[in-house]
Amino acid sequence: MPNPVSSVLDELLPGNARLFVVSNRGPVTFECAPGTGLGGDPDDGADSPAFRPGDLSASRGSGGLVTALAELGRYAPITWIATSSSDGDRVAGPELRRTHKPLRAIPERDRPLASRVRELLDEQQPGQDLRLDYVDLPREVYGRFYETISNPFLWFLQHQMYALPYGPNVDAGLLDAWRNGYRPANKALAERFAEASKDVERPIVLLQDYHLYLAAGHIRELRPDATILHFNHIPWPPASIWQMLPQGIRRAICEGLLGSDIIGLQTDRYADQFLDTVASFVRDARVDRDGRSIRWHDRRIRVATYPISIDPDGLARFARSDGVDDRLARLEGRLERAGNPKVIVRADRIEPSKNALRGFLAFEEMLHRHPELRSQVRFVAVHAPTRTSIREYAEYAAAVREVVARINGLADPDDQPIWIYDGSDYAMAIAAMRRADVVLVNPIVDGMNLVAKEAVLVGERLPVLVLSETAGAAEQLASDSLAVAPADVAGTADQLERALVMPAEERRYHLRRLRASVREQDLAWWLRRQLRDIAAVRSGALAPSRRLRDTVRQVEAEPA
Ligand code: F6P
Repeated sequence: MPNPVSSVLDELLPGNARLFVVSNRGPVTFECAPGTGLGGDPDDGADSPAFRPGDLSASRGSGGLVTALAELGRYAPITWIATSSSDGDRVAGPELRRTHKPLRAIPERDRPLASRVRELLDEQQPGQDLRLDYVDLPREVYGRFYETISNPFLWFLQHQMYALPYGPNVDAGLLDAWRNGYRPANKALAERFAEASKDVERPIVLLQDYHLYLAAGHIRELRPDATILHFNHIPWPPASIWQMLPQGIRRAICEGLLGSDIIGLQTDRYADQFLDTVASFVRDARVDRDGRSIRWHDRRIRVATYPISIDPDGLARFARSDGVDDRLARLEGRLERAGNPKVIVRADRIEPSKNALRGFLAFEEMLHRHPELRSQVRFVAVHAPTRTSIREYAEYAAAVREVVARINGLADPDDQPIWIYDGSDYAMAIAAMRRADVVLVNPIVDGMNLVAKEAVLVGERLPVLVLSETAGAAEQLASDSLAVAPADVAGTADQLERALVMPAEERRYHLRRLRASVREQDLAWWLRRQLRDIAAVRSGALAPSRRLRDTVRQVEAEPA
């Protein structure tokens, strides 16, 4: 049977046409061995005497965006434009831009580095026709763009994590970061796209996430014939939250996005809130909430819902790999020494929106109510560090460490109620999910949350999902999970207790339904729906937008 994603792509990309992706983070992150590469002086480059091509290494970029899109190159030729986020990216960048040329066409002195870069790219993204184009923003621009505006400002605002009497403060520093960081970064990425697509007629570009709210507007000016889909991976909060910002910024964000043909959001709620925001702040826009479209400057922009998902087959293969088996065996050995307790698992980046702190407080409350559970349950938390150079993230990680230390007290490691593992080791996260009796996903708010979807597929002990009502995944999975409100520490303790004693039959029933739903709406489904809508826009046959909630929530159960 032809692959459904490939067949839509074949239709969209005749001949050798390429699909363009633009995001902040690229699919592969390059690293220079310590003491080599760019060091402190950007002019040293790969010519630095200390640098040898073997000093360059690579890993898969992190985050849901990369996980979802990194497979695209299996289906079609992709040009992926991103920013350089490390010295390694800056060293590899010039070579990445010419990977399509035969090695013999590269000046001899550059060949060792060129072949190392090709080898690493092939290791990370095997068998893909993928051209990476990393834009080197000046460091001060990148800092303002990534560390001031994107995270924390937009991230905190959109996850509603500000204590509003105290923040955000749109002061001179933030305005400077907006003007001299966020704006130029968006412009630079849009210009690079225009350059990379200059020989392509009616290019198709998939813009990603909150880093790039202004990019579609620039691209529309540079390439009026481009078909642009902007997909936002994180929540879109109500208009009242955006109203905290100066008119100039909130309008620029909305109008920048309206340069797109299609604006994709994770859930119906975020799509509705986006439409409201545009209706509130873009006076000359005509918003059709029911038809999910916006008329603006003689163009029609469609707003659609594309809940992101996972690749069940790829995950199943990975979950059975030696690396995961090894880690599971080690975890099981440790659990055996601890008397085979039940296991509650969480796996996330240590980042305030994930709400780990309240998750641990709820667990503590449960132990307080039922001291006997202390020996019968362990909380396995697989935590990945993230954005550690940004103060707000570092402070939150420290607060989490403090609470865990307090709850664990001075007990011996195996007797401690909370076991922390390093989540930059993805195999460990999957091993823990395989062993989970309960999985706690309690974000304050989340665009989607793919851990919820992974956990129900890989769990081997009929895991119960305890899920925040405010995770995007709740629109799909809430009816077969135990719901929690993110601030409800006492209620989360109740649900953890309930999950731990839920009878096997009930667990099996819910798990079957959860699995069926995740398998039906998988990663290929997410991609295909976007590509079909792009095809409809290009042919002028734009089907009316529909609400997901009303149409696809009823799924057939299959055996767990
Ligand atoms: O889903 C993960 C995510 O929210 C993506 O939307 C986004 O690309 C990523 O996090 C950003 O993370 P980072 O700052 O690590 O690139």
